[in-house]
Amino acid sequence: MISLSPHQNGPILQVEALTVSFGGFKALNGLNFSVQAGELRVVIGPNGAGKTTLLDVITGKVRPRAGKVLFRNRDLTRLPEQRIACLGIGRKFQTPNIFKTLTVLENLTLALKNPRHVLSTLPFFSRNGSHSRVDEMLETIGLGGKAGKTAGLLAHGENNGWSWAWSCCRTRSSF
Ligand SMILES: Nc1ncnc2c1ncn2[C@@H]1O[C@H](COP(=O)(O)OP(=O)(O)OP(=O)(O)O)[C@@H](O)[C@H]1O
Ligand SMILES: [Mg+2]
Repeated sequence: MISLSPHQNGPILQVEALTVSFGGFKALNGLNFSVQAGELRVVIGPNGAGKTTLLDVITGKVRPRAGKVLFRNRDLTRLPEQRIACLGIGRKFQTPNIFKTLTVLENLTLALKNPRHVLSTLPFFSRNGSHSRVDEMLETIGLGGKAGKTAGLLAHGENNGWSWAWSCCRTRSSF
């Protein structure tokens, strides 16, 4: 997870005593975890350790039996997935969901949080700064030269790289 808003002091994300049960089986049992603003954290563990379950709770896909997930001090555990996404939490899956016939730039421009109507797709109406934000994201992840490439022609690893930027473009703040 990476925060793109390093201005906030203290944890941006706090997981407190999180317990998730599937039937009688506890996939997470009293987990505590936090991410500071601007901090990069990696969650590792063997198969079945509960990594995906943790992400599922943070993004609202799974409801915990007990505990809290605070994002900027707001409890996410009762919010629907779409509200959590609007607060600025994005997620990237192992297999990237991309438009293979579009270029990387076109894919990322679609991901930006701009108005979703026909006019906004025309160059005249498109928001200033869209391209610079996409360029900035691609430079950050070392794929600066790939903006004009057709997504379907890139290697799996490259698509994985920029679809990470896709999540950041969508949410503007955190990933
Ligand atoms: N919907 C579900 N119903 C029942 N059990 C589940 C469900 N989702 C996950 N589990 C169980 O919860 C445990 C944690 O699973 P999870 O997928 O979070 O692990 P993981 O750390 O992501 O594993 P992997 O490295 O294989 O991706 C596993 O034992 C899994 O079988
Ligand atoms: Mg998993």
